[in-house]
Amino acid sequence: MFLQTAWRKVAFGLYGLTQFTKSGFQEHSKKFIEEDMITRMEGKNCLVTGANSGIGFATAEGLASRGATVYMVCRNKERGEDALSKIQSTTGNPNVHLEVCDLSSIKEVKSFASKFSAEDKPLHVLVNNAGVLENKRVTTPEGLELNFAVNVAATYAITELMMPLLEKTAPDARVITVSSGGMYSTPLTRDLQFSENNFDGTLQYARNKRVQVALTEQWAETYKNKGVGFYSMHPGWADTPGVAKSLPSFSERLSEKLRTSAEGADTVIWLALQPKEKLVSGAFYFDRAEAPKHLLFAGTAKSHANIGSIVETLQSLCNIPAKV
Ligand SMILES: NC(=O)c1ccc[n+]([C@@H]2O[C@H](COP(=O)([O-])OP(=O)(O)OC[C@H]3O[C@@H](n4cnc5c(N)ncnc54)[C@H](OP(=O)(O)O)[C@@H]3O)[C@@H](O)[C@H]2O)c1
Repeated sequence: MFLQTAWRKVAFGLYGLTQFTKSGFQEHSKKFIEEDMITRMEGKNCLVTGANSGIGFATAEGLASRGATVYMVCRNKERGEDALSKIQSTTGNPNVHLEVCDLSSIKEVKSFASKFSAEDKPLHVLVNNAGVLENKRVTTPEGLELNFAVNVAATYAITELMMPLLEKTAPDARVITVSSGGMYSTPLTRDLQFSENNFDGTLQYARNKRVQVALTEQWAETYKNKGVGFYSMHPGWADTPGVAKSLPSFSERLSEKLRTSAEGADTVIWLALQPKEKLVSGAFYFDRAEAPKHLLFAGTAKSHANIGSIVETLQSLCNIPAKV
């Protein structure tokens, strides 16, 4: 057990240093096809969570620059307005809107979803990008561990609640969840809120990101007849405000080697633009290609069998009944 945990860390570190950095992006981009990114998105509605900063901002900007109507979900009105006006001025696209919602609250997620759904707009792309790595064990007013609340509960709730709007754009509809290569370091665990002693924020974040990958796989199966595609992805290691705040020594050590936010957002935008026939629902993507969900000899694959019971826990915590 100890050896396997140690191996996962070493394998993840080596994989990361060679592939997730800027040089990895430069190497992989030699195989990128320019035409993949020239698709226009006029008339398509995209919802991007955590769109005021880092990878979410670059994603919203990239989608808006292709003519999409973009709804930016941000928790802070001022930061959201600031980002929105920047995107409108750089892209010249007036169809960019701000939705204020603190995703750490299931109550707020539900109230946002019901307000947004009342307009009955078809939704083409949902990008679950908002994420947090809180190093201390903080509990939200609703009693949830904070990393779990934002990274898992909100991702689950918003996706389920947007399903009726996504189904309106089937078979083109898609949900893209920004996970992390950090998930390679851990199996799926049923202890969603880290109830053990010795809280470890980085490990909790990695566990959350593993749940996102397994949830994506599960959604692809559950909703396979609904015409909605589900994709999780890893943006690589990008120099964002989130990384600087939550992982200061990592950020300093690798500063010159980190990707830009736009490079981190590249695969999110690619997934939003590709014809669905090119993509595999339930798969995990990295640098415009399907990537493994498990590292060699890491022993994490079997744990995905627990996703059914995790979904039941999420349904009950969020009080959102299954739709199928
Ligand atoms: N950067 C990397 O190297 C890297 C690597 C792997 C995965 N990722 C993933 O990429 C995604 C984006 O991260 P980033 O690096 O771009 O970090 P970031 O700059 O901190 O952006 C995170 C975004 O999420 C928002 N957010 C956090 N908590 C929220 C809440 N309670 N309600 C609503 N929005 C909330 C933040 O809003 P505020 O600005 O108000 O805080 C911000 O807009 C995350 O899911 C992260 O796990 C990043």
